[in-house]
Order: sequence, then structure tokens, then C-alpha cells
Amino acid sequence: MQSTNVPMSIGESNNTNHCTRQQLQELLQNSFGDLPMLLVSNREPWIHSHCDNGWIEANRPASGLVTALEPFAEATGGTWIAHGSGNADRCTVDEKDAVNVPPDMPQYRLRRVWLSKAEVEDYYSNLSNRGLWPLCHVAFVAPLFEHHHWQVYREVNQRFAEVILEEAAGKPALVFIQDYHLSLVSRILREANPNLITVQFWHVPWPNREVLRTFPYADELIHGLLGNDLLGFQSKSHAHNFLDAADRLVEARVDLEQEQVSQNGHRTLVGSYPISIDFDYWNEVGASDEVDLSMKQWISELNLETDQLLIVGMERLDYTKGLMQRLHAIDRLLQLDPSLKGRLQVVQLLVSSRGTISEYRILRQEIEALTRQINRRWADGGWRPIQLKIEDRSLIDRVALLRLGRCCVVSSLHDGMNLVAKEFVASRSDGDGTLVLSRFTGSAQELTGALLVNPYSVEALAQSMQRALLMPERERRMRMTQMRKQVADQNIYQWGSSIVSDIQRVRQRKALKSDVSTLTV
Ligand code: F6P
Repeated sequence: MQSTNVPMSIGESNNTNHCTRQQLQELLQNSFGDLPMLLVSNREPWIHSHCDNGWIEANRPASGLVTALEPFAEATGGTWIAHGSGNADRCTVDEKDAVNVPPDMPQYRLRRVWLSKAEVEDYYSNLSNRGLWPLCHVAFVAPLFEHHHWQVYREVNQRFAEVILEEAAGKPALVFIQDYHLSLVSRILREANPNLITVQFWHVPWPNREVLRTFPYADELIHGLLGNDLLGFQSKSHAHNFLDAADRLVEARVDLEQEQVSQNGHRTLVGSYPISIDFDYWNEVGASDEVDLSMKQWISELNLETDQLLIVGMERLDYTKGLMQRLHAIDRLLQLDPSLKGRLQVVQLLVSSRGTISEYRILRQEIEALTRQINRRWADGGWRPIQLKIEDRSLIDRVALLRLGRCCVVSSLHDGMNLVAKEFVASRSDGDGTLVLSRFTGSAQELTGALLVNPYSVEALAQSMQRALLMPERERRMRMTQMRKQVADQNIYQWGSSIVSDIQRVRQRKALKSDVSTLTV
């Protein structure tokens, strides 16, 4: 087990110039205080489920989107509209299908949209996650495009739009839509209530034109997204891919310099806003007594010895995360450096997700089989190199595990951002730890203190892990300090405030336009 418990200062991040929750709140109040805020996503931030003892419990799902957006929702205190997916969700809502959350200290309203099992299957599992998900990620899993799935996707997008329109009640509102499940919503809203300001953030990569063209409904997808006033991507290259697609695949006027697209008199501003987390929160959790206690529990649960070197991996079970490549690299690492035999301990924590999709079920079996195979090959006495845990653990336990690791590995084959990398850095209130990070994540553009690696190269991945494990403490701390400053400065409130500033521009432009048209009339 590796951990140097140098006491941290919670106030460390106060030395930085980052935007705070309060500043974002003030900015929102000053710019849009007169408008209701409607956040929209497929995934709901709180899921209510029946327990065996007859009680109902509320849980937060394992979702980067939820982690990132919840502080934003709390800061703005509006309404979050999302699919009600829990088996006790209907028991907890009021007559408007809404419930105030978080349950222990409500700060915003969650309005649930009900979908049938068949709709979830075709709109969420099929079109969104077997079609758009592999289309957007270069992970070499062929996307599935079926006309019926697209029809159901359209219908569900229409349903979400109707709920939003009902919430806005014909008045102006600021609507902030999330992700690839809801690409047709803003167009429907625009036609029904032009007073709405619509913003959409695309959390996953946007593919290049050649790849996008394989999607039979690419033009409708782009057209749908052009209903937004502002469209945000994680990186400049994804924003440019979108502008290029709008230029070549639909009839629209694209201004590459101003990063905007005009279609039938409506303009969409296209920008890049790398998403982040609430650094101060993760930092404080990392330094808490609860985490301290949980670290001790992990040490006994994992049977960690003081001289062991711990590598931690933590994510949703997904083929985009490069999990098989990571396992092969661990095998290779033990060949490269036999002195690690008995000393290396890899803990891979996975949250199972999208389990109804066959590609995910197959991947789970492959991961389990390969782990068994590697463990058999290297087993020595009671020691096995890999402990695979496919289970949902509390936030405290996850942070504690991140705190224990000498090294955290994020080997995604492609990832819009990857917030686990940022969570690791923010949790390391002790200032120690190394990060091996795939070049193909959005985070790699910011976390330059990490050891950046091509996850397709098992050799390079193994060598980077070796370097991360054996790196002198001085270098580890220097790199970590740099990464922590980066995440503290570019936190979720900074992300929110960049978007809000651009929405302000959009609003001013719209107001100007309506003044001019009134004059002309
Ligand atoms: O952006 C992709 C994303 O929606 C993330 O926000 C989230 O971490 C992940 O996929 C979870 O997906 P799902 O909502 O399908 O569980």
C-alpha cells in the first residue's frame, strides 16, 4: 500500500483564481435572474428505488454528466427535467411529476418524464447507445442504425420538448439541454415558443464528417441541433467537426471565424467548453475523516501491505474505456519488471452500466475471463495482481480508493472529457499520486502533469505504469501540484460561467434583432 499522509490544507485552492459557486450564482442572477432555468437530460440526478425493507431510497447514478451538472443545478436552483427511471420514482413525485432534491437538503426541482419500457429500449439503449454512442466514439464497435429506433428517438424527443414547453408555460425561459439523447429537442422548442433561449452541451466527442455520414439521419441530427442558440462541445476540434458537418451536409451558412451557423434566419453559436468538477468539494471530501476511515477499511478489505504499490482504475463498465488494453498492459508490466511480483496490486472498480446491451454484457465476460487468466499466470501464494470489483461503492469509498493509489490509470480509447481523471486529482488532498492518462480523452488537453499515453499500445501503457509507480516523490508532487491548480482554476463553475457569458451575448443579439424588426414593422 502506498500513501504518504502529508497533511493538506483545505484552503490550498483558495490561492487560485477560480470561479466559485457564489460567483456563478451572482452571474446567473444578474444575467438571467428574470428567467426560469430548465436543465434537461436523459439521466436523472436522483433515482428513487424500493428497498427490500419496504423503504424507498434515493441514489445518485454513476454518470459524469450528473457529477458535473449537479453543482450547477444547485447553484441555479431551477428545474431539472429528466427521464424517471427508478422503480419508486412515481411514488415520490407531486401532481406535477416533480420532486425537490437532493433529498436531504433540497435545492432544485426534478421534473420526471415517463417513458415506456419499449421506448427506453429503442430511444436509449438502441438509437442513443448502440447508434450514436459508437458513432461518436472511435472505439471500433460498429454502430447500429435502424429506422424504427430513429422513429422512437424522434417521438421521445418530442415528449421531452412537450414537457419543457409545459414547464415554460409560453413564457421566456433559459433551457439547458444535455447530450446526444436529445438532439431534436431544441428545434421543436424553437418552432413552438421562440421566446425560449436554448443551449445544448454535447458531452461526448463529435465525429468527423466521413464517420458522421455513415449515420443515415445525419442531416436531421444536425438540423435538430441547429435549433439551439448556443451549442457547446468539449473541445475545439469537436466544435470544428460540427461546423464542418453543418457546412457540407445541410443547407446552412457557416462562419468558421465567428464559429456560428445561420439557417433560415436563425443563428447558432458553436463553442468549446471543457467540462469539469467542483474541485473544492472533492478536495474537502479527500481530506475528510470519513475518507480516512474508509482508507483503513480498504486496506483491510484488499489485504494491502505497507510496501505494496497500488494502481487504481475506476469507471463505468464500457468498451470506450480501454479496459481490456489496460489488463493486457498489467500482464506486460509484470513481464517488464519482475521485481513488481508480489508488490504490485491493481484494484479495478467498475460500475456496471447499460447491462441490457449485448456489447456490454460480452465485455463484462471478457474482462472477468482475462482477469482470471492474468491472476492465474502470476499467482504466488495468496497474492494475485488484480482485484476486480464490479460493484457500486459510495462516494466516500471511491475517494478513499483514489487516495490510496500510488497511481490512477485512465486508458479510454476515446472520451469527450473523462471526469474520473479530474476527480482523482481533486481528491488527492495529500498532493501525492501519479496519473496515467489516455491521449484520447478531453482531460489530456488540460492535465499536462499526467503521463500521457496511447492506450492502444500495450507496450507504452505498461511502460507508463512502470514509470508512474517508480517515479520519485518530488516529481510526483510537482506534477500533482500542477494538475490540482489546473482543475481548481478550471472548475465546474468556471465552465458554467463561460457558457453563461456566451448565452448573454446570444440574448443581447436576440434582443437587438427583435428591436430592429419592431422598428421595421
Ligand atoms: O456523456 C456521456 C454520458 O452521458 C456521461 O455523461 C455519463 O457519464 C455516461 O454517458 C453515463 O451514461 P448513462 O446515462 O447511459 O448511464
